[in-house]
Amino acid sequence: MARIEPRTFTLEDGTQLLIRTGEEDDAQVMLAYLDDLDGTTDHTVTMPDERDIDEPKERAWLRERLDNPGELALLALIDGQLVGELDVRCAANRRVIRHHAMLGISVRDGWRGRGIGSALMITLIDWAADHPFIEQLRLGVFADNHGALRLYEALGFVREGVRVRAFRRDSGDYVDDILMYRDVKDRQGVALPAT
Ligand SMILES: CC(C)(COP(=O)(O)OP(=O)(O)OC[C@H]1O[C@@H](n2cnc3c(N)ncnc32)[C@H](O)[C@@H]1OP(=O)(O)O)[C@@H](O)C(=O)NCCC(=O)NCCS
Repeated sequence: MARIEPRTFTLEDGTQLLIRTGEEDDAQVMLAYLDDLDGTTDHTVTMPDERDIDEPKERAWLRERLDNPGELALLALIDGQLVGELDVRCAANRRVIRHHAMLGISVRDGWRGRGIGSALMITLIDWAADHPFIEQLRLGVFADNHGALRLYEALGFVREGVRVRAFRRDSGDYVDDILMYRDVKDRQGVALPAT
């Protein structure tokens, strides 16, 4: 069961940010959040008209994160409003690859650039560093997502490869996928701090 103790961050402007595990009952709020995300970023791989989820499916998705020991869904809330989310998945039932986990993250438009993404990532790194079998975090990022690249590099992620022209926008433009990873433990298994 993947859960964290709720954690509070104080943003630079003094705003209190709560980060906690996503629960099944958050499904409706998550769906509304995803609707609001539409049109605010061209750095996601699922287009609004391709999203095929409803409340039961979203509940099941959140349940899966809770049930799988190598997976986690984190929500970021300010005054009860969902302002960001992060999820991480790993193949916990495959010994050869279960030491790495793949993450995805987003922050609500209007709240970006205030430290919420960093707080979500720090919470994830701390969880992973303390995890019994996860040793590395991995992600893929659009090569033109300069803000996200800066965030990841600031937190110690390094570029490990490029999937050339992995993304094709409706405009016909291609964008490379930059693959990045970050160790959360050293070779002796000692946790590496988030910052
Ligand atoms: C990428 C994203 C999750 C970052 O979250 P965030 O809350 O905006 O990030 P933070 O405020 O914690 O920023 C942390 C650092 O990242 C960098 N950064 C983040 N957004 C940036 C931007 N738009 N331009 C330049 N740098 C940026 C900065 O270096 C910043 O450090 P600073 O505070 O010293 O300036 C958010 O912008 C987002 O949701 N974007 C749309 C969806 C998306 O791209 N998801 C990632 C897919 S891989």
